[in-house]
Amino acid sequence: MTPLDVARVGRSRHQNDMNQIFSRARFLFHRPVLAALAICGIATITVAADKTVARPDLSEKDAGRVVKVTRPADDFSKAEPFERMSAGAATSTKYVNRDAFSHPLANLSFAEERDFKIGNALFRKLWVSSPSSTKASDGLGPLFNARSCQRCHLKDGRGHPPEGPEDSAVSMFLRLSVPPETDAEFAALRDKLLLRITEPTYGGQLQDLAVTGLKAEGRMRIAYEEIPVALSGGETASLRKPSYRVEELAYGPMHPKVRLSPRVASPMIGLGLIEQIHENDILARADPDDRDGDGISGRPSMVRDAITSEIVLGRFGWKASNPTIELQSAEAFVNDIGISNPRMTNASGDCTERQADCRAMRDGVQANLGATEAPDPVLPLVTFYSRNVAVPARRDVDDPAVLAGKRAFHEAGCASCHQPKFVTRRDAPQEAHRFQLIWPYTDLLLHDMGEGLADGSPVGDASGREWRTPPLWGIGLTKTVSGHTYFLHDGRARTLLEAILWHGGEAKASRDAVVEMSPEARAALLKFLESL
Ligand code: HEC
Ligand code: HEC
Repeated sequence: MTPLDVARVGRSRHQNDMNQIFSRARFLFHRPVLAALAICGIATITVAADKTVARPDLSEKDAGRVVKVTRPADDFSKAEPFERMSAGAATSTKYVNRDAFSHPLANLSFAEERDFKIGNALFRKLWVSSPSSTKASDGLGPLFNARSCQRCHLKDGRGHPPEGPEDSAVSMFLRLSVPPETDAEFAALRDKLLLRITEPTYGGQLQDLAVTGLKAEGRMRIAYEEIPVALSGGETASLRKPSYRVEELAYGPMHPKVRLSPRVASPMIGLGLIEQIHENDILARADPDDRDGDGISGRPSMVRDAITSEIVLGRFGWKASNPTIELQSAEAFVNDIGISNPRMTNASGDCTERQADCRAMRDGVQANLGATEAPDPVLPLVTFYSRNVAVPARRDVDDPAVLAGKRAFHEAGCASCHQPKFVTRRDAPQEAHRFQLIWPYTDLLLHDMGEGLADGSPVGDASGREWRTPPLWGIGLTKTVSGHTYFLHDGRARTLLEAILWHGGEAKASRDAVVEMSPEARAALLKFLESL
């Protein structure tokens, strides 16, 4: 039985049993397999001339294999071994269509595939307001952005900005914060007890929906301004620069110094493998003071894990503010849907003290089911789902134009941030995630991307100009899966080329290289991205 099987049996039993079984299930789930450490000495791998990474999860022999398979590409005359399989044995090779991002990892066990399906059903489940006739589904809101995870992570792909004034803004929202003012606020940020100070009336996020009888907070409005860009060979492009404001504020004015941070929903693929990249592999690539003088100074986002209270590496979200898929999912339940769960127990979601009407609304907690609106095993199953969505295999890896584009990608310095490959931890809790050669094209570090992309909203270690390098795997299937090609944290880019042209700050040299390369090389670069 898998841990989740244990949980499922638990559901049909008496509550006490269920709690007991659950604490056991959780133990199995999170317990790192440390045995390997005891047997072997600590292996190391060299990632750059002066950089060695400790990989205590690997034997010397495995470490040697890792060095070999993660060596940077230097021969662009043919595809690298295993390059087609972006997520190793976990890669989905199913027929590519709109569902390409919704398959389970190819190497899940039969029992795990069942848990994946139940998790998927919960990911798609529409929550309703309480009290309702379907007891186990209520607790929505009172304020919310969407009624299900899937509503934003449409087809498990990326969200998008509204296509016009009439289109809904679902799958995208504004995070809200203000500069710290009091000593207590400065101290909380310094100690990372908080990553930002939320807006005093509206909270950490603008919820543009509310349950019946309560007013939604307001509406996000976007205005775009077109900026032409000249490229080599007489080609041109146009970038649309967004500006954001909030209208129809229902709870009075916002703090005068409010900062708006727009975010579209990220694709759900390969997240469990990203979680199992060894943190030493990521930290070794950080170069905060740019000692190697390449103009690129990635910084890790170190955050406090809300469960263990330890300071750990953040990996998820556009600013890498969340260390685990479980916490990211728990926060999504509370802030995006307004559903409390054992990890985040606040049943009134993102309602603040100043929103008394909201606080007074009925919650959906049912004592006979548990102490929160989504008692276990809802969060563990949704987390399990989110950890196990497959990355599709690449297409056309041997195509000469794709290979030329890959060369251009490396020559333009894209790979310094969009790090092509890693080998995941040998001691990952779930077997399917162990020791896989994966090609996510990210270093998971924060980079200053210049004023053009800045949101002016610092979160933890991330400044108002910094963003986490997003994974590029699957990006070529955006149109197929999501029906659009909007990229970057707020979906402002309408094409892959526009996404590249927005790169500034540490990535400016790369961007300039793309502006200056021949039109053929540029087309090949885009073809390479399309093949990811
Ligand atoms: C209202 C829209 C919305 C809803 C509903 C929503 N999400 Fe998200 N999701 C987002 C956005 C936006 C991000 C990026 C967040 C950030 O930058 O911090 C995100 C990011 C994530 C990530 C991290 C992905 C990555 O690559 O870093 C996970 C995991 C995730 N969501 C899971 C969930 C789960 C599970 C649910 C349901 C409980 C859910 N989301 C509901 C909008 C949504
Ligand atoms: C200094 C690090 C850095 C370099 C160099 C860099 N990128 Fe990026 N890239 C980023 C970051 C950070 C983002 C996210 C920015 C945002 O959303 O505002 C990003 C976003 C992207 C996106 C959009 C991804 C998405 O999910 O929306 C694409 C495509 C992309 N980069 C391609 C490239 C290419 C091609 C190159 C080389 C020409 C390149 N990048 C060079 C850091 C970098």
